[in-house]
Amino acid sequence: MKSDSKARYGTISRLFHWVIALLVLWQAMKIFDRINDGEHWVGQVLVPWHISIGVLILLLMVLRIVWALRNRGNRPSAPPALLGFLAKAGHLTMYVLLVLLPVTGISFMIGEGYGLTVFGMELLARGKEIPWLAAIGALHSPIALLLLATVAGHILMGFWHHFVRKDGLLRRML
Ligand code: HEM
Ligand code: HEM
Repeated sequence: MKSDSKARYGTISRLFHWVIALLVLWQAMKIFDRINDGEHWVGQVLVPWHISIGVLILLLMVLRIVWALRNRGNRPSAPPALLGFLAKAGHLTMYVLLVLLPVTGISFMIGEGYGLTVFGMELLARGKEIPWLAAIGALHSPIALLLLATVAGHILMGFWHHFVRKDGLLRRML
């Protein structure tokens, strides 16, 4: 039940998948800062959690990677055709981007001298700007847009399997 099998993802993998998916959608709301400088409901209620949730995603991703490695060879496999290869590459890309995003986000905050406060705890006080770290931080926005594009493709493929191919693939993750 808890571990994965060739037929489907186990409870823990499914929990990781859906909790992180929800948190990533929450994080995506940051893009609404571009509208009216964030002076609206989304900007005032959801976006202020961006840094804390981002750091939480980093911790969850570390645990998820350990869990995925432990279950290696015992997870649902993709067919050895082009689509299967693309699915594997897409999943791996999302793993990598979900680690790079918090890393570049943290680099942005520290590099720009803002310090780092997570769920009200000050982990690092405001300090001097660190240009090379700020340069890594500048990659945060393009990487975020790349992740959102990959996730959009992933969700479309999920629906395609469910509604067009009707192969029950979605059930592996439900
Ligand atoms: C931010 C949103 C999402 C992210 C970051 C995400 C990420 C991932 C990743 C990394 C995997 C590979 C399995 C693993 O190692 O855990 C996966 C599998 C899967 N996801 Fe998502 N996912 C998201 C949303 C969704 C949604 C909304 C659906 C439903 C349409 C979905 C359906 C699936 C299915 C069915 C699999 C298993 C695919 C297979 O067995 O080949 N995901 N997802
Ligand atoms: C998986 C986690 C994360 C996701 C999915 C994510 C996503 C995003 C998105 C979609 C944007 C808007 C980009 C734009 O409008 O061009 C953004 C901006 C931003 N994020 Fe994140 N983020 C994550 C983690 C973090 C973390 C951990 C931090 C800081 C510790 C952070 C700090 C920022 C900052 C400062 C901006 C504004 C950047 C700018 O104005 O150039 N993010 N993020």
